[in-house]
Amino acid sequence: MIKTALSHPNKALVIYWGNENDTLRIPTRSSLSVTLQGINHPLDYIVSLRTIGSSERDKVIIDGIEDKGEIRSHFVYHLNAMRRYTGFKERLEVTTRKSFPVGSGLAGSAASASALAEAFAGLIGKTADTRLKSIMARRGSGSASRSVFGGFVMWQKGNSDDSSYAKQLFNENHWDLRNVIAMVSSNPKKIRSIEGMKLSKKTCPEQFYSDFVSVANHHIERISTALLGRDIAKLGVLYEKENYLFRQVCLRTTPPLDYWTKVTDNILDKVANLRNDGIPAYAGTDAGPNVHIFTVPKHVERVIRTIQEVQGVQDIIHCRVGEGSHLIEEHLI
Ligand code: PMV
Repeated sequence: MIKTALSHPNKALVIYWGNENDTLRIPTRSSLSVTLQGINHPLDYIVSLRTIGSSERDKVIIDGIEDKGEIRSHFVYHLNAMRRYTGFKERLEVTTRKSFPVGSGLAGSAASASALAEAFAGLIGKTADTRLKSIMARRGSGSASRSVFGGFVMWQKGNSDDSSYAKQLFNENHWDLRNVIAMVSSNPKKIRSIEGMKLSKKTCPEQFYSDFVSVANHHIERISTALLGRDIAKLGVLYEKENYLFRQVCLRTTPPLDYWTKVTDNILDKVANLRNDGIPAYAGTDAGPNVHIFTVPKHVERVIRTIQEVQGVQDIIHCRVGEGSHLIEEHLI
């Protein structure tokens, strides 16, 4: 049997950074994100899963090349977690294709782990069970629990494997919000998110980290209201506040996690200047140097023109709100 799924990355508005339980990926705070699909450049991650019997070893083929190292181990770890959770016994061949760099701050892990969970749910006949899919995606990458859904999505932290999963707040047609990504680098980051967040939780000044954790629900509530009212200014201010807090947490980690570059700062300055000119554009980052700028359709052109002027910007990806992970009929095998 073979099943193929497609998924997209997401950008956090309220950020996930740290776990109460690293193995199960139960986070320290709830988070909220927007699922993203590229307009000028697709942000697609496709996974085909084929059953190969229970006596074989799992096989992983990335962009046409079989991997026998770290990437395979990561996929097998995730498959094992999903097999244990569901009782499914078969060994699998995983074939993947992506249209964007993974490990570059574009939340590729969210897209890949949610596509894997979606295809796995297809194999076991559970595609309608969004809670199960979100839980299974979470075990591969925390943020992947959110990419199971399109639109605007909240991951309720929960306190156990069964209670930590995401839910859709508004679907992808609720608001035509746009995200302009200024690509500063497509190289994999030096410290992966999962390692970085472990360090932050362990070494960040206690009061500072616990304030970061405890403000999440308040931010989620206020951002949900801004989304409901399609209020870009209200959303933008809170988005930048979250991003500022996140960056402070990273910089107060020992050793400091500095995912940003001079180019990142120059872009953030340009976006602040745009606002002085009355353009509603708001900037933030993930654990990487690339900058995600939220705005509305009317102002996209001006934002892109402004960002293009910044030296060191390598590419610009213009995104709309995307759909959640889903099965497709075109298999990679
Ligand atoms: O899901 P992970 O392990 O790739 O970590 C994601 C971390 C951030 O992208 C920085 C924040 C988030 O909420 O997506």
